[in-house]
Amino acid sequence: MKPAWPACFVSCALLLLATGCDDMSKQHKENPYASPASAPAEQVPGTVEYHDMPHPVPRLTMALLQRGRSEYHAFCAPCHAESGNGHGMVVQRGFPAPPPLMATDGRMGTPLHLHDVITSGQGIMYGFAQRIGPDDRWAIVAYLYALGRSQHATRADMTPEQLARAP
Ligand code: HEC
Repeated sequence: MKPAWPACFVSCALLLLATGCDDMSKQHKENPYASPASAPAEQVPGTVEYHDMPHPVPRLTMALLQRGRSEYHAFCAPCHAESGNGHGMVVQRGFPAPPPLMATDGRMGTPLHLHDVITSGQGIMYGFAQRIGPDDRWAIVAYLYALGRSQHATRADMTPEQLARAP
């Protein structure tokens, strides 16, 4: 199956960049489905098999991306770095460096593949099934796409409001 996320990654990513990270401690506790923008919490068509339990892919919302950002910073950035280049703190202290998460053009594995790696791990990377719930794993996947797109965004990707504020 393919999660049919709408193509709002770039503007969401730019918004994320614009809003910065100053209130992350607050965002960490935020419920992605509490946002008025996401109510009611309808699902995209299609489900994925998560172990023996089908788990629906959460709808892509700004709140989901913010949740993904804070989870990524907490659980992944120590190794993969905030940019995804693989030179996080743990790696600087001697842990083997992971490959960059995004190809130079911002592309990466399919959403399902990324979700599987987060769930079960890969090679020397341990899985996070016990530590990160399925929705939050999808939130991280969505954020990874936004991060990849944000690193290859051009002025053409910006909204008129963002252009007005841009240097
Ligand atoms: C302890 C360090 C560490 C942490 C924490 C960690 N990873 Fe990894 N990750 C690695 C290493 C090392 C690899 C390469 C593993 C291998 O193939 O042997 C890897 C591989 C990956 C890959 C596959 C990359 C590829 O091109 O094959 C993805 C995707 C990934 N990690 C995502 C994540 C996400 C998302 C998180 C947070 C939920 C995370 N990782 C947390 C170290 C880490």
